[in-house]
Amino acid sequence: MSDRYSSKTTNSGNQNRRSSFQMSSTTFEAIRGDLYKLTGIYYTDNKKYLLESRIQRRIDELKLSSFEDYHKLINSFNGRDELNKLFDAITINETYFFRAEFQFEAFENVLAPEIIKKTASYKKTMRIWSAASSSGEEAYTIAMIIDYKLKSRFPDVNFEIIASDINETVIESAKKGEYKDYAIRNIPPDYMRKYFTKKGSLYTISDKIKKMVEFKKINLYDPISVRKAGRIDIAWCCNVLIYFDIPSKQKVVKSLYEAINSNGYLFIGYSESLHGITNDFKLVHLPKAMAYQKIEKR
Ligand SMILES: C[S@@+](CC[C@H](N)C(=O)[O-])C[C@H]1O[C@@H](n2cnc3c(N)ncnc32)[C@H](O)[C@@H]1O
Repeated sequence: MSDRYSSKTTNSGNQNRRSSFQMSSTTFEAIRGDLYKLTGIYYTDNKKYLLESRIQRRIDELKLSSFEDYHKLINSFNGRDELNKLFDAITINETYFFRAEFQFEAFENVLAPEIIKKTASYKKTMRIWSAASSSGEEAYTIAMIIDYKLKSRFPDVNFEIIASDINETVIESAKKGEYKDYAIRNIPPDYMRKYFTKKGSLYTISDKIKKMVEFKKINLYDPISVRKAGRIDIAWCCNVLIYFDIPSKQKVVKSLYEAINSNGYLFIGYSESLHGITNDFKLVHLPKAMAYQKIEKR
């Protein structure tokens, strides 16, 4: 079945102008297959409407005339860029500062001191990764905790924070460090006073904190891309695994395992679990939070 013009088709003089199409199920299947190959995320049938409306916007911008043409474009020689743009348009980027507050508490009070103690004799750098960082709130939360609470306790330690996402638009927004009310609503008042300035309706994070985080584009579904993160002591990979199906989760978690140092830790979202996905991590109970610790294979 080919794509159909919808009832919204308009007449302007003697020209037919198409303001909206419908995506055939064949084209939907083909495009979701392309997205799956790129990202490991499988758009279920109930997401057809979302895909359709977002692709419609891309079609309008590119002045194409059907979903089939769009499908041809993303499969053409130069189509990868457009597929990335489509993915940028459909990812769910919701996040806010101090979202997983008990994980951050456990990091400050238990995990960071433990790792520093264990590795003090041979290494003075701790590497932390926010692996699906969206607009940067998680990574900047970690940076503020390090600056406020950990640097004075561990003055010899060099903390490196990598933040990454597949979506270039959110990475650019993270680098700006400007946030609305929604993002800052969970920030403790002393952190707010210390690290933010308000201009109009926007809150800007201080340059000092911005400089502590290095942003990179990394596709978690692509093991070669994940290598850009380097060696990691603690990774946060929160609220992204839920979008992958089981084989994709297994592939992503294997790459995370390879990036994390021996006995290093992984945090995932509160509603996520590695049960049935891997046996390579041990679940560790921390005060009010849980983390996965890498088990070294012999
Ligand atoms: C809901 S946000 C989570 C933000 C933050 N980690 C948190 O928990 O608040 C999910 C992020 O995962 C990113 N994402 C989705 N698929 C990805 C992939 N294959 N590789 C890297 N990032 C991906 C999206 O672009 C989005 O910014």
